[in-house]
Amino acid sequence: MCYHSPLMSAAERIKQLEHEAISAIDSALSTAVLEDLRVKYLGRSSELTGIKKSVGSLPTEERKEVGGTANRSSRAIEEALRGRVEQLAAKEREAKLEAEAVDITLPGTPYPRGHLHPTQRIIDEVVDFFVGLGYRVAEGPEVETDYYNFTALGIPPGHPARTMQDTFFLDDGLVLRTQTSPMQIRTMLSQEPPVYVVCPGKTYRRDSDPTHSPMFHQIEGLAVDKGLTLGHLKGTLAAMARHVFGESVKIRLRPSYFQFTEPSVELDVSCFVCGGSDPACKVCKGAGWLEMLGAGMVDPGVLEEVGYDPEEYTGFAFGMGPDRMAMVKYGIPDLRLFFEGDLRFLQQF
Ligand code: DAH
Repeated sequence: MCYHSPLMSAAERIKQLEHEAISAIDSALSTAVLEDLRVKYLGRSSELTGIKKSVGSLPTEERKEVGGTANRSSRAIEEALRGRVEQLAAKEREAKLEAEAVDITLPGTPYPRGHLHPTQRIIDEVVDFFVGLGYRVAEGPEVETDYYNFTALGIPPGHPARTMQDTFFLDDGLVLRTQTSPMQIRTMLSQEPPVYVVCPGKTYRRDSDPTHSPMFHQIEGLAVDKGLTLGHLKGTLAAMARHVFGESVKIRLRPSYFQFTEPSVELDVSCFVCGGSDPACKVCKGAGWLEMLGAGMVDPGVLEEVGYDPEEYTGFAFGMGPDRMAMVKYGIPDLRLFFEGDLRFLQQF
């Protein structure tokens, strides 16, 4: 173990080890190397530890000197190690931070910005309007029973309206709802009057041209209370039309027929493309008016069907097409553009 000259005293050898260790420590370039040096100079099988172990067998006067020198050198080496570890660890931390640095001033990966669909904007506007009047919002199933979609609304089996609505019939007495009107029945069966509810949702009919799509949207409205009249219906819908279209679009109410309202009306808005001047207009087909919604006073038979007393309560109902309303509002001539998912189209809104 002692490969130094036998002429060198133990204390001298210790000093030599100390110098050797400290100069190695000073020139070490990583904390990993420092750890190796710690093992080499202070570890259990290091030469210095060996010397310390042998101190006990030395003559008394030498024991004190060698022991003292060994302890001082150990401490000096430890001290040098600690200082250098601190320096190198700080450097290593800096290098790591630099290597992992993120330039927060670089622009990020831009996400394509989304847009609300024009139909959704109309739905939001209409629903907001009615919520402002105290109406509640309800949603129901798109796969509907024949009973709710037709029978309970005064359209019994075999009634021509079932095919007139271009119904998608499913198995087991189910249909894709052709209208949101079944929500009238579902709502009234689930609560006592008074009722003030709007029901936006998807509806389906076998129909496709510039103003019809097999899937489209409706918003149903229903109010049932004591003393409601056609005047309330007219005032409510006029205020709604002004809220959505402003004062510039003309509106007309015209008598109509629905199986579940009596009397029934239709609300039209003036054609935004030709204003009624082009007999060949693709949008209004020369009529000058676009059918916007159906409405009426709830038929007493419907109130009876859900267990409301028609002597005590009256109501009005309406069903509108937010897709068509969006066409009017934004001047879009072809409804099918709404459902093609073309971002160039949607980004215009
Ligand atoms: N459900 C009718 C349709 O799709 C629209 C409608 C008319 C709804 C009159 C109503 C109403 O609530 O009272 O053609």
